[in-house]
Amino acid sequence: MTRLATPFTEAFGIEHPVVQGGMMWVGRAELAAAVSEAGGLGMITALTQPTPADLVREIERARYLTTKPIGVNLTILPSITPPPYDEYRRAIIDAGITIVETAGANPEPHMELFREHGIKVIHKCTSVRHALTAERVGVDAVSIDGFECAGHPGEDDVPGLVLIPAATQRLSIPVIASGGFADGRGLAAALILGADGVNMGTRFMCTTESPVARSVKEHIVAATELDTELIFRPLRNTARVASNEVSREVVQILAEGGEFADVRELVAGARGRTVYENGDVEAGVWSVGLVQGLITDIPSAGEVVRRTVNQAVAELRRVGSLIVEPVLG
Ligand SMILES: Cc1cc2nc3c(=O)[nH]c(=O)nc-3n(C[C@H](O)[C@H](O)[C@H](O)COP(=O)(O)O)c2cc1C
Repeated sequence: MTRLATPFTEAFGIEHPVVQGGMMWVGRAELAAAVSEAGGLGMITALTQPTPADLVREIERARYLTTKPIGVNLTILPSITPPPYDEYRRAIIDAGITIVETAGANPEPHMELFREHGIKVIHKCTSVRHALTAERVGVDAVSIDGFECAGHPGEDDVPGLVLIPAATQRLSIPVIASGGFADGRGLAAALILGADGVNMGTRFMCTTESPVARSVKEHIVAATELDTELIFRPLRNTARVASNEVSREVVQILAEGGEFADVRELVAGARGRTVYENGDVEAGVWSVGLVQGLITDIPSAGEVVRRTVNQAVAELRRVGSLIVEPVLG
């Protein structure tokens, strides 16, 4: 099939400029391998594995499914009992992973070790200033999440249409546009905004290889771009999640002056995990992006990669054909 070669695909040795971002409870071997096998970049989510040894086994499982490069997402968020990040990092290195996606905190503390082992780093962030910091500390690419995204959009509320070009006009390293992308129209638009590829979460969550229950995927297909909530706004740790009884209650409690302790039970990770495993979309809070409003089916992850690229090529050609040169003479 026709390729779109960008500085990102060439530097990272992948065929297509399509990345599957790290997703807690979702980024497991089958999904990551399917994306990579189709020529995109699939990402195993490190902390979905209960221990660093489990992460190594998950990477090995993915390697049975594809020989193409697979990345690992390492998300570092503030936590009362932080996971052993250093041990996860060691597991990533020992497993011979060559591409890491960092998120949640400045990647600087990891850079020396990753560099030493020839690992390329994509840092995911939500603002131009954090992207510039990541570039300065030596990451190889940034993916930048607009306000549309599932999960943590940051506190600046700048949508991709402004955030992506604001980033690409100031950075020299490859930029992956993230948040709100689900198809080739989005990829074509991202390239025109100066990005070197797209990162998709919600779209890949709604594929056959995604490990979430079928009813969650059907819920995404049925939902519109209006069906998300921003929780934790007053705590300045905003997260975009599906709109349901639980997320609406969390928004209300915090808007009325409640504290984290008042919603702790409602937002427990174990409840969110139940949603994915048992398929009860009302059981807890779970991440999803505005882009669910553009998702109408549950294809394979490979199909998503292929049609995203094919549609982007067609759209770029269509737009090119709109140009009418002046007649000389
Ligand atoms: C279910 C789910 C879980 C996610 N978990 C993480 C995570 O653990 N770490 C992370 O960096 N990003 C996480 N994300 C964000 C995605 O990697 C990606 O940046 C985001 O989904 C892009 O927006 P989109 O959903 O509009 O494509 C998650 C997204 C979803 C949908």
